[in-house]
Amino acid sequence: MSDKKKKLAVFCSGRGSNFRTLFYAIIERELSAEIVLCLSNRAECGAMDFARNYGIETLHLSESLFKSSGEFSSAMLHALQDRQIDLILLAGYLRKVPDEVVAAFPEKIVNIHPALLPQFGGVGMYGMRVHEAVLQSGQTRSGATVHFVNEEYDKGRIILQKHVPVLKGDTPETLARRVLECEHRIYPDALEILLDEHP
Ligand code: GRF
Repeated sequence: MSDKKKKLAVFCSGRGSNFRTLFYAIIERELSAEIVLCLSNRAECGAMDFARNYGIETLHLSESLFKSSGEFSSAMLHALQDRQIDLILLAGYLRKVPDEVVAAFPEKIVNIHPALLPQFGGVGMYGMRVHEAVLQSGQTRSGATVHFVNEEYDKGRIILQKHVPVLKGDTPETLARRVLECEHRIYPDALEILLDEHP
């Protein structure tokens, strides 16, 4: 394996529990990777706070701060290229990654989704809506999926998936908690797989 640590950028919009889990897993498992950038569409959020506390560079990049979507995507692309980012991990990032960025990082952008894709994914399927839809469908299983990001929402190749049961009496909140624990197990595992595959 090469000694050079992979440079990771994590994109977040909120609480940042997956971001924290990835950060600690890299240390505990001694993975050959380092989170060098936390990028968010929100200046203030749990993930950005955590990054600041741990000396990780933060970058607030919101499309509303730019004159056009083209300027926004090139700012994002340059930020990633300037820092020589190897892998981008989306962890609760509630924006679509611009196509120009996806094209520049083929199979180098990864997302975690709180359901068993290809079901319960796509436009508008995020947060509690996912768990509400799973409960309404009467499925007996849900879970989490780590997958590559391509130009279509939640359609990229699946890297890792793990299921959890849907229990009698589950509410969207109780199911979300069980799925989140599952996310925290499989995101570090998926990162480890990717690092092993591309040393
Ligand atoms: C997670 O459920 C993730 O699957 C989804 O957004 C949530 C983010 O949670 N994309 P956190 O910010 O990592 O705590």
